[in-house]
Amino acid sequence: FNVPAAKNEPVKSYAPGSAERIELKQALKTSKEKTIEIPQYIGGEEIFSGNKRKISPPHDHQHILGYFHEGDAADVVEAVNAALEARKGWSYLNWEQRAAIFLKAADLIAGPYRAELNAATMLGQSKNAYQAEIDSACEIIDFLRLNVNFMRDIYEEQPISSDGVWNRMEYRPLEGFIFAITPFNFTAIAGNLPAAPALMGNVVLWKPAFTQVYSANVIMRVFKEAGLPDGVINMVLVDGPVAGDVIFKHPDFSGIHFTGSTKVFQTIWKTIGENISTYKTFPRIVGETGGKDFVLAHKSADPKALATGLIRGAFEYQGQKCSAASRAYIPSNLWEEVKMLMIKDLAEIKMGEVDDFSNFINAVIDEKSFDKIASYIEEAKSSDDTEIIAGGTFDKSNGYFVAPTVIQAFNTDYVTLCEEIFGPVLTVYIYDECGFEDIIPIIDNTSPYALTGAIFARDRYAIEYATEHLINAAGNFYINDKPTGAVVGQQPFGGARASGTNDKAGSVLNLLRWVSPRAIKETL
Ligand code: NAD
Ligand code: ALA
Repeated sequence: FNVPAAKNEPVKSYAPGSAERIELKQALKTSKEKTIEIPQYIGGEEIFSGNKRKISPPHDHQHILGYFHEGDAADVVEAVNAALEARKGWSYLNWEQRAAIFLKAADLIAGPYRAELNAATMLGQSKNAYQAEIDSACEIIDFLRLNVNFMRDIYEEQPISSDGVWNRMEYRPLEGFIFAITPFNFTAIAGNLPAAPALMGNVVLWKPAFTQVYSANVIMRVFKEAGLPDGVINMVLVDGPVAGDVIFKHPDFSGIHFTGSTKVFQTIWKTIGENISTYKTFPRIVGETGGKDFVLAHKSADPKALATGLIRGAFEYQGQKCSAASRAYIPSNLWEEVKMLMIKDLAEIKMGEVDDFSNFINAVIDEKSFDKIASYIEEAKSSDDTEIIAGGTFDKSNGYFVAPTVIQAFNTDYVTLCEEIFGPVLTVYIYDECGFEDIIPIIDNTSPYALTGAIFARDRYAIEYATEHLINAAGNFYINDKPTGAVVGQQPFGGARASGTNDKAGSVLNLLRWVSPRAIKETL
């Protein structure tokens, strides 16, 4: 089981004058000058339905990048048939042949497609160059490469044999097909959700979010160029419930690989439950969902590190990371200094479109999201239970821009401390510096989620106490760091409670969900 050594893809700097910056600028220009048409990919065919939906950058909603061709229930049926046909060959390939295709896809993204995929993520999802680089270059490359190492680890796990008996374990793909439903906010997650089950020998229907189709299309082209056989991954551009209506009633449905909101995942789980007697096999249900991620500071914390961690954790990619810091609990002795540091830094942060690489903040994904975020801010502005510390403004005339907003809440159950907003809004609650142990159960119980969380402290007792007493409050827990930016292979990612099934994307745990092991005993 010899596979390339595990290593993370280095992050490029895009420093002024660097070759990668020149190449990325050119890719942005070329992409903006074209108006492309994006098909569905079914059984290797490009399907142009004629039902065209506009794609615009969230930061410039009058500009048209292209159109995608929306499909319908009949396309989903076609895609299922194409996948099942492809399974006859794919599921019997040697693991090396499957691995080689995804390693090749990683190399294509690391090299010739890097600028194009980053540009697509920047324009389609309004990410700045750095946020695109760590997502649609490094993270997706890491998923594709390191999953091959995790697959090797699984295959190497073999039972013991005895005299005259040879026991072995075969890690077969699931019987049927997998449905991958992906969110808008990470191109890497969108690519990994179909790729991981396919690597393990499964065939997949992939339904990206309509707001991520622009970069999803580049990923499909990469998979094809890497040699993925027709029908192994089929990309359908169909409304979620329409696709679900076909798939969740199909006897060959064998698993869902979902990332998105908790509410949608609950609906899907319920539908699967209602149809359970239809399926040939119990479907694997893997879902990573919402979060209300916290930062807890102890009175011993370094105020500068805390302020930086809060700004980066809460506002990078406009707070639209599932892992984003959205509530912070700060002791009274630190608040004045942390507040001043944050106000000063936020005053210097630039917001705007993605071509200007000095913009830290870009636009939120669409009008629906903008309106939702704005309504939380409006409510906070008029409430007696809050004070707006920074930001509080928004404007959708050219793009969906929301200024990074810090709300101070005076009650621990204020709505923005409890609900997922998914935008650049951080709510802080100031607790009595002597009440560290009392604030912990509040953090634990204020939200149903348990995705990420962080403790900032220099006192070792405080670190140990928070780590122990917030044991179920976060699937990814950070000590003296922001709660975002998990790296594949370094911090396997996923949450518990209402944040998902915690199968840790980019790990052996996740890949194990996509195999049906067969134990073989042979008497010699
Ligand atoms: P969303 O739930 O609105 O959509 C996710 C996907 O589900 C999209 O492809 C959408 O079209 C599809 N969908 C919607 N309704 C459906 C239905 N009834 N049947 C089938 N599919 C349906 O989420 P989003 O706005 O794209 O992403 C943001 C959410 O994703 C946030 O809640 C965020 O926390 C979560 N997220 C979680 C993680 C994680 O690892 N835990 C990572 C990224 C995003
Ligand atoms: N890797 C992403 C983060 O941790 C999901 O923010």
